[in-house]
Order: sequence, then C-alpha cells, then structure tokens
Amino acid sequence: MSVHKSDIKRITTHVVQAMKTNGEKIAMLTAYDYSMARILDAAGIDILLVGDSASNVMAGHETTLPITLNQMIYHASSVVRAVTRALVVVDLPFGSYQGNSEEALKSAIRIMKESGAHAVKLEGGAEVIESVARILTAGVPVMGHLGLTPQSIYKFGTYTVRAKKEAEAKKLIEDAKLLEETGCFSLVLEKIPANLAAKVASSISIPVIGIGAGADVDGQVLVMQDLLGITKEFNPRFLRRYADLYNVINSAVENYISDVKEKNFPNDEEQY
Ligand code: KIV
Repeated sequence: MSVHKSDIKRITTHVVQAMKTNGEKIAMLTAYDYSMARILDAAGIDILLVGDSASNVMAGHETTLPITLNQMIYHASSVVRAVTRALVVVDLPFGSYQGNSEEALKSAIRIMKESGAHAVKLEGGAEVIESVARILTAGVPVMGHLGLTPQSIYKFGTYTVRAKKEAEAKKLIEDAKLLEETGCFSLVLEKIPANLAAKVASSISIPVIGIGAGADVDGQVLVMQDLLGITKEFNPRFLRRYADLYNVINSAVENYISDVKEKNFPNDEEQY
C-alpha cells in the first residue's frame, strides 16, 4: 500500500523510509524563512531542508562556508514555526562538525534544542563518520550528503559534476554504504552521473534524494529560489524552473514605484 499526502499527518523519518519501500517519490525543497515555508508546507512538500545554501541565496555570499551555527538556527526556527506536516532537516554548517565528533554532537544538539527541527544533514563520508555516529547516539536523525559537497568547494576547485572517474565513483559507493550502515536515515546525492546515482539508490535501503543526479533515485531536491526563478543567473542543466518570480516581482515593484511617483497610490479607498 502506498503512502499518500492526504493520509499523513506528519512526515517522519519512518514515513520517508516507507515511501522508498513503497516506491513513492520524495519531494524535498530548501526553505529558510517562515512565510515561504508556510506556502511550501501547505502545498504538501515532504521534506524542507534548511540548507546552508542560505549563505548564498539569503545572505549573498559566494560559497556556503561563511554561514554560522547561530544563523542556521535562526533560519531553522523560522521554518519550524511555519510547518505542520513536512519533515524539517537542517544543515550543519561548515566548521561545526568536521574533525571533532564532540563538537559535531554539540552543534546537532543546539540545532535540535533551539530550532525544534527534526533532523540534521552533513556533508561527507568516511572522513566524517565519527561525527555521524556520535550524533546518532543522541537520537538525532542524520541525513548524509555525497557527490558535490559545496562545503569542500576549495578542495574541488569547481562546481562541475563529481564522481565521473572510477576511483571517485567507487569511493562514493563505499561512503554511501558506510553512511547507511552507521545509521543515516537518508542520503542526498548532488551532481553526479545518473547511472551512478541509480546504482547507489538500488544498492542501499535508505532513501536517496538527488539534485542533478538523474531520475532513478528515491526523491528530488531543489533550492527553492532556483525552482521559483528568483535566482536568474544560475542555470545548471539539472534545474527546471517552475515559475519566473524574478520578472513577476520586478514588474510588480516597477508598477508600485510608478504608482507612488505618479500619485496613483494610495487612492481614496486605500486610506482612512
Ligand atoms: O544547502 C543546500 O541547499 C543543499 C541542497 C543543495 C541539497 O545542501
């Protein structure tokens, strides 16, 4: 029996696991603020990711590296207040978990306690496995993230497709299995060849959610501003735009400016 939007009161990690088992695709989007999270939740999104991409799309930084734990908690608590149904997952920001599992556990606990979120996500495989394991001991669900991991951009040098060569693909498969065995409840695969993503999704039992990883995975994630056409200049092949909000907002604001300048706003009905 498949699980449907209308049947579910709240999406939990168990529900997303059941979706994989039942072959129902998982829809995930990023969210960073209350107003937008309310709309996405009401529309029936399964998972809201408070991504560290907030560093780019909300704060205008070139990379995800500068965003802090306090800023992630601020975004996450705004999203949690808006949500009645979706599972809320929060990125552990750069520097809050790498190389120190005690620090990782403290960071994850701060996110869960101060924002009310339901799970955390972190980037990497074997090199962060101690942190993953330690966070799990506190009962905090962990989502993994492999492939293009933007917190390592200065190691990669570019945002191009990852794991095209055999050695990197082999390590990615090993890391995916390790994350599953350690207890992650799901895994994001970013910008890798579709056939590799399909191989991973069929060889592990936890849900695999792709971004630029093809169709044969268990779900998809996009950055909300990209899907809505707010970030005009970002045009990777994997991105499908479902709206053109940049132009909608631009023309609404142009009309407002012109009404104000020409004394057409407010009119008689729009005042006390
Ligand atoms: O921060 C983010 O938006 C992400 C997604 C791209 C998966 O990690």
